[in-house]
Amino acid sequence: MMRRIIFLLAALVAPAAWAAGGGALPYSFEPDLSNKSSMQRGAKLYMNYCAGCHSLQYLRYSRMAEDLDIPEEVVEANLRFTGEKIQNHLTGVMPEASASWFGKQPPDLTLVTRWHKNGPSWVYSFLRTFYVDESTANGTNNLVLENTAMPHVLWPLQGYQALDEDHGESSGGHGGHGPAAPAFTQVREGSMSEQEYAQAVGDLVNFLTYAGEPARLHRAGLGIKVIAFLLIFALIAYLLKREYWRDVH
Ligand code: HEC
Repeated sequence: MMRRIIFLLAALVAPAAWAAGGGALPYSFEPDLSNKSSMQRGAKLYMNYCAGCHSLQYLRYSRMAEDLDIPEEVVEANLRFTGEKIQNHLTGVMPEASASWFGKQPPDLTLVTRWHKNGPSWVYSFLRTFYVDESTANGTNNLVLENTAMPHVLWPLQGYQALDEDHGESSGGHGGHGPAAPAFTQVREGSMSEQEYAQAVGDLVNFLTYAGEPARLHRAGLGIKVIAFLLIFALIAYLLKREYWRDVH
């Protein structure tokens, strides 16, 4: 209970702290919840690279399967850790003791795209800006969350990059407006090109945005139905009015 309260307080305070800091994010990302195949790919990446440490405790496998059109057998076979049932929430497999492994407990990610200001862009930037830094415990650092306890788990995809000396400030070249994209030098290749990696991270963020508010998918669909109903109703009302007044004029 106490943890929940702290979590809630943190959720309230974190955006304010960020706003006060006024830091601009290196990348911006607009989530697209109409792109199901992207969210499916994101779910798969999440299961392979994130679920070992993080949880999505408010999301059920079955709900995810239904919302994202993933056949339940596929979820059962691929996305799930052994011994779990499809009705279960994605609670993760890390024991409480994991805090001492990383110095910090990996947080639940259900609301991660909502508790930061520009949440989707924040997470997107976070996942793209790990860089090698020998002075940290795990050998990498992060531009968005300085000295983060999270290791660069997507390195097999992205490889490793080093942050350029000038922190990329002079590299923007967009007329000097806005934050420049950070300048990195690739020091070890991953399995993906930079573009493919950016897309993979976008898929992950789409999935996490969905996970933060699964009802949003349905809400959009409902809105369209309501508007269609109103339009049809307006037409009927209009025809009815014409019928009633025909003999009056
Ligand atoms: C080896 C364990 C581990 C894995 C695997 C892992 N993380 Fe993390 N993650 C952490 C830890 C520990 C933190 C806390 C970092 C901190 O506060 O410095 C964290 C923090 C985060 C945060 C920042 C949360 C916040 O608001 O402060 C995000 C976002 C995140 N992880 C996303 C991911 C995603 C997406 C994946 C999969 C690609 C992933 N993590 C895989 C350990 C992990």
